[in-house]
Amino acid sequence: MSTSNKIQLKNVSYTYDQTPILQNLNLELAADTRYTLIGPSGAGKTTLLNLLAGLLEKTSGSITQADQPYLANKVGLVPQDYGLLPWQTVEKSVTAAVLIRQQQKHLTREQQLKLQHLFEALGLTALKSYYPHKLSGGQKQRVALARAFALPNDLLLLDEPFAALDALTREKLQHLFLTMWQKQPTTSLFITHDMTEAVLLGQQILVLTRTGQLKTILSNPFVESSQPDPARLAFIQQLKGALRDGP
Ligand SMILES: Nc1ncnc2c1ncn2[C@@H]1O[C@H](COP(=O)(O)OP(=O)(O)O)[C@@H](O)[C@H]1O
Ligand SMILES: [Mg+2]
Repeated sequence: MSTSNKIQLKNVSYTYDQTPILQNLNLELAADTRYTLIGPSGAGKTTLLNLLAGLLEKTSGSITQADQPYLANKVGLVPQDYGLLPWQTVEKSVTAAVLIRQQQKHLTREQQLKLQHLFEALGLTALKSYYPHKLSGGQKQRVALARAFALPNDLLLLDEPFAALDALTREKLQHLFLTMWQKQPTTSLFITHDMTEAVLLGQQILVLTRTGQLKTILSNPFVESSQPDPARLAFIQQLKGALRDGP
């Protein structure tokens, strides 16, 4: 993706039933950069993701991509509830993501090979014929990641994808996400309420206030590190403080 592909929000607001949810957001998402988004519960994080996914329409303001109106055509979405359909096997679920976007009936040989590699990388090969009810939370989330990485995207949106997983599975998936991202760098917006996760995954950390305003954007000096470094731990404390302080 070229740097001219940045996604820009100017004065974006979203009001629901006359209640302002998001207020005058000004934000530039640089190409191929990982952002984590933190903020108190109810701050409007999911609403922002839904606006960028094209599932909600902003009330005012503008969103552009490379200075053109933003269309949300090539978006990968990883919701907290995995977003899998009970009647689709793992393989079908990922295949469908490709076929629907590309408006094809069948995969090309090249696409088949790409998916084969993707299933390998995500440890899903042995699970291809499984339906969601047979999968653990961690396995379901790996399928959701496979769907997100099956095609190149302009934007990846992840809504607390690992929040429901146990600590060990969560750590594995965090590193799997980083590995997949390195292979296919994509502008990503990753919501989390876990400050350690925010610091591990986000090159930039966006902080929303309780009232849906952008409080600050922090460049993250400790990205991809999980060392028990005192400076890193202090930074995590600083983020916790940023959430507690009033807007
Ligand atoms: N469809 C909706 N109906 C009613 N209220 C909504 C709806 N969507 C969002 N809200 C309200 O908008 C605010 C922000 O919600 P949300 O974006 O889910 O926050 P977050 O993800 O940061 O916890 C909350 O106060 C929520 O109650
Ligand atoms: Mg939410």
